[in-house]
Amino acid sequence: MLDLGRRIRPGISEIQPYVPGLTDDQLKHTYGLSRVVKLNANENALGASPMALAAIREEMNMLHHYPDGSSDLLRRAIAEFHGLKQEHVLVGNGSDDLIKLLSETFLDPGDEIVVPHPSFSQYTFGAYIMRANVKPVSLTADFRYDVEAFLKEVNEKTKLVYLCSPNNPTGDVATQEAVEWLLERLPENVVLIIDLAYNDFSTRPDRVMETSKLLEDPRVVLIHTFSKLYGLAGLRVGYGLANPELWSFVNRVREPFNVNRLAQRAAAAALADEGHRTASVQHALRAREFYRDLANELGLTAMPTEANFVLLHTGDGAKTTQKLMEQGVMVRTGFRGLEEYVRITFGTDEENELCASALKKTL
Ligand SMILES: Cc1ncc(COP(=O)(O)O)c(C=O)c1O
Repeated sequence: MLDLGRRIRPGISEIQPYVPGLTDDQLKHTYGLSRVVKLNANENALGASPMALAAIREEMNMLHHYPDGSSDLLRRAIAEFHGLKQEHVLVGNGSDDLIKLLSETFLDPGDEIVVPHPSFSQYTFGAYIMRANVKPVSLTADFRYDVEAFLKEVNEKTKLVYLCSPNNPTGDVATQEAVEWLLERLPENVVLIIDLAYNDFSTRPDRVMETSKLLEDPRVVLIHTFSKLYGLAGLRVGYGLANPELWSFVNRVREPFNVNRLAQRAAAAALADEGHRTASVQHALRAREFYRDLANELGLTAMPTEANFVLLHTGDGAKTTQKLMEQGVMVRTGFRGLEEYVRITFGTDEENELCASALKKTL
């Protein structure tokens, strides 16, 4: 009889499938709720860019045609936005796609990657599918980056080093100075990937910025997404900025049509939607203050955040999450090492008020 377990590639059965939070429909069904406030996936409280939505409507009647496999229009728009050349840009089916592509391009069994801990899980996932090993580097006790600790984990097996800025789920940034310090010392054959998914929400002047100077270094890859600031998480589109030669290799493992038609058009339109971008950042800044004040009022610790979410210390993250869920408010917990915390995504003003009153009842 066929024994599938013996036919699959080594290492596959050890991978834990990604477990997303419950969808709002699942939650409504489980708890018999009529309304759910979804604050568990760091999505944009203001919704999608209206200009992106208009572009999608226009593109709908073209869906019987394949998309442009090289996403030229979108890559050009991104390049212009950042003052770079189109060859510096690769787009993906979400930035998850780019992380997987980079892993497939660089990693062999036994290679190593260095990642922040705690941080976004997909860096580790990318290593596991290639049977590479993961060296986690703990953040400091107050969840800051210690780049010296990163460097200590780098050896001749290291291929990729990841930074996430602001870090998910803790919220602090990697500074430009820290990144420059690291680049000066990293071996020349190690690639530094900086995930900037939430960077546009940050106002810290010392945060790492994608200056063209940074990209002159052939080891640097900067990853962005349209899922957060631009509110297009459901479409799946992200992009990477790096040296054209690096992309020429990654391009060989990319699926031919990895970004769909609607995503390409919508993302290009979203980039031009200055109004939506500014409103989204302003909203996140106000929400940041709202949760800081709420934490003070409740006597809880909220970690300083530069993103559109906040990590809140409640003592027992699972219990808080459960109690909030029963009241129709979805937050995220279960990050390894952060069992005492919940991560709350900023919602609309009304959603944040609902979350606050649910939290007050819970505690
Ligand atoms: C740090 C970070 N990077 C990347 C992603 C994935 O983004 P995308 O929706 O573009 O795949 C997320 C999503 O939560 C994230 O938190």
